[in-house]
Order: sequence, then structure tokens, then C-alpha cells
Amino acid sequence: MVQSLAFVSGKGGVGKTSLAINSAINLSLNGFSVAVLDSDFGMSNANIMMNVKADKTISDVLSGDCVLEDIICESHAGVKLIPGGSGTLDTLNLDTEQRWKIIRSLDALEDDLDFLIVDTPAGASNSSIEFASAVDHVIITLVGEPTSFMDAYAFLKALHLEKKVIDFSVIVNMAKNKDAALRDFKSFEKIALMFLPVNLNFIGWMPSSNDIVQSIIARKPFILDKNSKKAVGQCMDVITKNIQETLPKKRSGVQFFSSGNGV
Ligand SMILES: Nc1ncnc2c1ncn2[C@@H]1O[C@H](COP(=O)(O)OP(=O)(O)O)[C@@H](O)[C@H]1O
Ligand SMILES: [Mg+2]
Repeated sequence: MVQSLAFVSGKGGVGKTSLAINSAINLSLNGFSVAVLDSDFGMSNANIMMNVKADKTISDVLSGDCVLEDIICESHAGVKLIPGGSGTLDTLNLDTEQRWKIIRSLDALEDDLDFLIVDTPAGASNSSIEFASAVDHVIITLVGEPTSFMDAYAFLKALHLEKKVIDFSVIVNMAKNKDAALRDFKSFEKIALMFLPVNLNFIGWMPSSNDIVQSIIARKPFILDKNSKKAVGQCMDVITKNIQETLPKKRSGVQFFSSGNGV
């Protein structure tokens, strides 16, 4: 059975794409078969961070020019990248039926995958809400700033009220240390639980690290770099282990890898 997960945040620039890619590669290095779906169709940059040239994107699948298998790019450690669009209008303004078509097109990979990791865009658009509600495991990326808390809360609230999602995992990125990350998690949890009947689970943290910044500039994911791995790899290993140990929560509605009830 494929376990699907999505990295969400509300706010942009908090490290979703970096965490999505590095955890995908780490899972792959641990022997799992992994695909990354870049659902940031407006400004897809998973392919840039992975240093992969994406000739065809999900936009070509939607237009019927090719099938999903034709657009998959093999990347580091065998991770399969499903590239988002390149900001063209047709992928920016996806309607519900097109999103459903994308989700169902991934059924073709069901027998080949252990994990599907969905990288979502910033904001709480219909598109990010629908893709996030179609996975088994939603991971909120937080940084220790009020704007991040507010935007993550707004996203969580929308996902809970509109799609009845109850269970969320949380990663605190760019933290000073583990204690600071846990403090941020506790503050966020307190805000969320004050207003909504949800469950939040802390699954790890990442330090603020110049190695990570440099790895993005060099387009070489830090998990593949020996020196960076020494400095920040342990944190990534904890996150990857917790991803593996989180039991999938099946929900109703349109889901990846289960014949949902359509549009
Ligand atoms: N742990 C980290 N330490 C330092 N900088 C980071 C870290 N994670 C992300 N960044 C910085 O934040 C920027 C945005 O990261 P990205 O993964 O693109 O965020 P998002 O996908 O949420 O918009 C990166 O270009 C990088 O410079
Ligand atoms: Mg991103």
C-alpha cells in the first residue's frame, strides 16, 4: 500500500520543498520506492532543487498530450519526480475536475511506490486544500515566527472545517535547537487546540543551517552531501523515521490511490 503525505504550511519560504525533497531522498536511501508530486503548479521548483530538467509536466498530462509515465523524471537516489507546471494559466487555475484527474492519474504508480510525497504551494487555495486532503498524512512545516503560526493555523483550520482532517504532524524548521523547536510546537498546539478538535504530533525539527542554504544554491540536496549530512542529517533521520512510523489515516472523499467518489 502506498503511503501518501503532503508538506503544507500556509506561509511560503518556510522550507516545505527542501524538506519534501530531502525526506524523499532519505526514504529512498533507506530502500523505499518514492515519488514526489510537485503540486506548486504556479511556481514549481522541486525540479530546480533536484537539478532535474523537466521537459514535460503535469500540464501535458492534463491536456491529453501524454500519460503520467511520460513526464516522470528519475532523480537522486531513484526518487521519481512528477513535475508541476511552469506557471502557465491552465495549471494555475485548475478546477476540481482537473485536480481529480491529476489525483487519479497517479493510480498508475500504485504498484511501484511505497511513498508519495506531495509538495504544496504557499497559501490556502482550493488547490492546496484539495491536494492536502487527498493524502494519508498531512505535515505542517512551521518556523518560529508569528506569521508562520498564523498562516499554518489558517491552513489547518480550512483543512479541518472543509475536509474534516483531524490528525496533523508538525515539523519545526530553522530552529535554534530542539528545545526551542519543542517550545514553538507547544505554542502552536495550544493555539490550535483552543479552537479546534484536532490532534497534533511533533515529528521533528531542523536547525537553521547555512549548509542547507548552500545545498539549495548548489542544487544538491543536503542529504546527499557528506558534510551537511554530518551536521543536519540526524534531524532528517528522525523525521524520516517518524514518517515511516506514522500510520496512514484513511478518510472519505477524493484520495490518492483509492477509487474515491469522483468530483
Ligand atoms: N533549515 C534551514 N536552514 C536555513 N535555511 C533554510 C532552511 N530550510 C529552508 N531554508 C531557506 O528557505 C528558503 C525557502 O525554502 P523552500 O524549501 O523553498 O520553502 P517553501 O517550499 O516552504 O517555500 C530556501 O531557499 C533556503 O534558503
Ligand atoms: Mg516550495
